[in-house]
Amino acid sequence: MGLIRSVLLMQLMIFLNVILTVKASTPAVAKPGCQSRGGDVIIPYPFGTGGDCNITEQFLITCNTSYIPNKAFLGNGNLEVINISTDGQLRIFSNASYDCYNTSYRNWFYYRLQLYKFSINNNKNKFTAIGCDTYARVEGYLGQHYATGCLSLCNNITDVSNGSCSGIGCCQTSIPKGVMSYNITIESYENHVDVLPENPCSFAFVAENDNYIFSASDLRGSNFKDKQFPVTVDWTIGTTSCKEAKMDTKNFACQENSNCVDSENNSGYFCKCFKGYEGNPYLPNGCQGCSLPNRDKSKRSPLIDIALGSSIGFLGLLLGIVSLCWMLRQRQISKLKDAYFLQNGGILLREELSKRQGYREDVKVFTAEELEKATNNYHESRILGQGGQGTVYKGILADNRIVAIKKSIIGDPSQVEQFINEIMVLYQINHKNVVKLLGCCLETQVPLLVYEYITNGTVFHHLHNDDAASHLPWETRLRIATETAEALSYLHSAASIPIIHRDIKLANILLDENHTAKVSDFGASRLIPSDQAQITTIVQGTFGYLDPEYMLTSLLTEKSDVYSFGVVLMEMLTGQKVVCFKRSEESRVLAMYFVSLMKENRLLDILDPRVLNDENVEQLKEVATLACRCVRVKGEERPTMKEVAHELAGLQALPKHPWSKNNLAGEESEYLLGKFPSTYNDGVTSSSMGMGYDSINNKITFELEGAR
Ligand SMILES: *[C@@H]1O[C@H](CO)[C@@H](O)[C@H](O)[C@H]1NC(C)=O
Ligand SMILES: *[C@@H]1O[C@H](CO)[C@@H](O)[C@H](O)[C@H]1NC(C)=O
Ligand SMILES: *[C@@H]1O[C@H](CO)[C@@H](O)[C@H](O)[C@H]1NC(C)=O
Ligand SMILES: *[C@@H]1O[C@H](CO)[C@@H](O)[C@H](O)[C@H]1NC(C)=O
Ligand SMILES: *[C@@H]1O[C@H](CO)[C@@H](O)[C@H](O)[C@H]1NC(C)=O
Ligand SMILES: *[C@@H]1O[C@H](CO)[C@@H](O)[C@H](O)[C@H]1NC(C)=O
Ligand SMILES: *[C@@H]1O[C@H](CO)[C@@H](O)[C@H](O)[C@H]1NC(C)=O
Ligand SMILES: *[C@@H]1O[C@H](CO)[C@@H](O)[C@H](O)[C@H]1NC(C)=O
Ligand SMILES: *[C@@H]1O[C@H](CO)[C@@H](O)[C@H](O)[C@H]1NC(C)=O
Repeated sequence: MGLIRSVLLMQLMIFLNVILTVKASTPAVAKPGCQSRGGDVIIPYPFGTGGDCNITEQFLITCNTSYIPNKAFLGNGNLEVINISTDGQLRIFSNASYDCYNTSYRNWFYYRLQLYKFSINNNKNKFTAIGCDTYARVEGYLGQHYATGCLSLCNNITDVSNGSCSGIGCCQTSIPKGVMSYNITIESYENHVDVLPENPCSFAFVAENDNYIFSASDLRGSNFKDKQFPVTVDWTIGTTSCKEAKMDTKNFACQENSNCVDSENNSGYFCKCFKGYEGNPYLPNGCQGCSLPNRDKSKRSPLIDIALGSSIGFLGLLLGIVSLCWMLRQRQISKLKDAYFLQNGGILLREELSKRQGYREDVKVFTAEELEKATNNYHESRILGQGGQGTVYKGILADNRIVAIKKSIIGDPSQVEQFINEIMVLYQINHKNVVKLLGCCLETQVPLLVYEYITNGTVFHHLHNDDAASHLPWETRLRIATETAEALSYLHSAASIPIIHRDIKLANILLDENHTAKVSDFGASRLIPSDQAQITTIVQGTFGYLDPEYMLTSLLTEKSDVYSFGVVLMEMLTGQKVVCFKRSEESRVLAMYFVSLMKENRLLDILDPRVLNDENVEQLKEVATLACRCVRVKGEERPTMKEVAHELAGLQALPKHPWSKNNLAGEESEYLLGKFPSTYNDGVTSSSMGMGYDSINNKITFELEGAR
């Protein structure tokens, strides 16, 4: 034992020596005494691997020694670095989002990338989407919310030409300046049914301009799922201009023989060696004149030759590193859990919860182990659903209770905020038609939420899946609508602080074994302080359900939920999707289409034939009228959720009249004409909804937050 230990120790010393010697004989790019490379990546100061090696926290590079060669990552995150240059740029790998179909199955992944201070260079990178039934959005944050995207269609894969990204099989658009984070969502209009099997997948990614050249063969497979794309990122020091930075002499980053250069919008600065000087301007004496000895000729240390020349020594070296890492890792694991708890807002949550005594006492804090066990270590077979917000697993707790466990994709702070938000919102709610939060776990890298398990899928699935559709008769749909309306009405008015859901859609209404509705997904919801009727927010929601007034003004009120709910009613009445490319151009957005048909007294043309019969036509008509009122352009003209719930409950109790089909058309027309509110004529079908649609037709460009 003693012998082995001393051999290890010796190897370790050689290892350290090698590192130190390499440092002395390579160009002075890293700070003296700091690790100068991670795998193939050279790490120049101001970047570094921790402690004083990096100039600030943002410049941390982590090396992961589990890979051979090692890989370097930005921060603690999972952004792999390809190359770092001292003149303000670095290159990282990004992934593609994908959306793949076969005749019965959708498999998708939405990639998101988060930088904290640095930004994606808008000249050197582009957003590309490929697919034949594809609309892809890239959105994120650049000091305000932005969203852009493009649309790519083709009828036949033979129409597609190599190298051309102009909307047939491939589309491209530039991304705005200053983007610090993005996520990419992909949707299809027809689940690729018309282009299968030639084109099973849509892909979308941000990549350096010349890095991707479209080839028609890329439409055929699913070969981009694991491909990584280089992206150029801009970095600067600090957030002030050179002038201000110079006044803080202690922290000013530019050293001798270098100039300070302001970044474009004065958000930070760079340093550049004087003309005729070369090197690293961030290090003392880093910029050196040409008279200095040419570094390439510096000799390799004999120690390296010894270490590399002896294979036994090399093996021992590896062993040494491995055992050192193992020891360190064990010690770090327990520290990590505490750190995650902090990072995940554990303190914030604890404070918030203690402020709100008297609400539900039964929200449990689970340990990481409990949930790992419950999900069989997050086994694939336990995945219930995957989406932009994260993955939902089925879990079986120690007491045999079945639960749903939601895990976000990456632990980025905005996502953590959404989780805490969801916990806070659900914590106060106890309603039979709202999915119940059982607890959470904050010890893992990504926070986890634990819900009651709802067995019967989403209403979206039941309505738009051919097999299941027949199982939702009108009575059930009306009851589900009523229950959803009651839940929303409760959220808006009965809960102690009004809550706006913000993302009401069929996919967020779950059904339990009795087909009782359970509203879910409160990640985007907002609590409205009681002294305010509206708040300004970043516009969020799902296209097709999104309130146009909110989209234009960013003013969030309860009436935005009413709008979305109106669209839900229309979807239940018609069985049609909210955005459908098969419909003619002016009718692709359901809300528009529905209202325009109502205006022309052609309600019967659009009602779902699976539910329409002589007995319920009265009810359907009433619900249709109510739905139209919900989607009025002006929020103030829409009914409140309470009124909607009340009317729906009344309709449910309505005695059924037999109608003869013959007198149906005539009377209905009159009825609708007489009763139809005049605002439809100038309202929904004109500019505001039209604009939402037109802009998506070619390029989706919503500069939402700024539009006012
Ligand atoms: C370098 O990064 C680490 C990790 O974020 C941080 O703890 C350290 O303070 C940074 N160094 C400096 C000088 O800010
Ligand atoms: C290194 O990479 C491996 C494999 O992806 C991963 O499991 C491990 O957590 C990483 N280590 C660190 C310190 O990030
Ligand atoms: C990094 O960039 C430098 C300068 O542009 C280049 O010489 C080098 O080959 C690059 N390294 C990698 C790994 O891309
Ligand atoms: C569709 O894909 C799923 C998952 O990969 C697979 O289980 C299923 O058999 C596929 N169905 C068809 C019709 O290819
Ligand atoms: C696509 O075009 C080719 C050649 O023009 C034709 O043979 C094929 O049937 C077309 N496929 C579809 C699905 O229309
Ligand atoms: C710098 O400009 C970009 C866009 O040009 C913007 O996103 C970023 O927020 C600006 N930074 C500051 C500190 O104003
Ligand atoms: C497009 O490129 C692929 C491979 O890159 C090639 O197999 C195919 O023949 C090309 N198609 C046309 C129409 O040039
Ligand atoms: C990106 O793709 C690589 C290679 O397939 C994979 O290892 C990595 O986990 C992916 N990253 C994310 C955030 O999905
Ligand atoms: C994408 O990012 C935007 C802004 O950060 C956010 O509002 C939106 O919810 C995200 N979407 C998904 C699907 O993660």
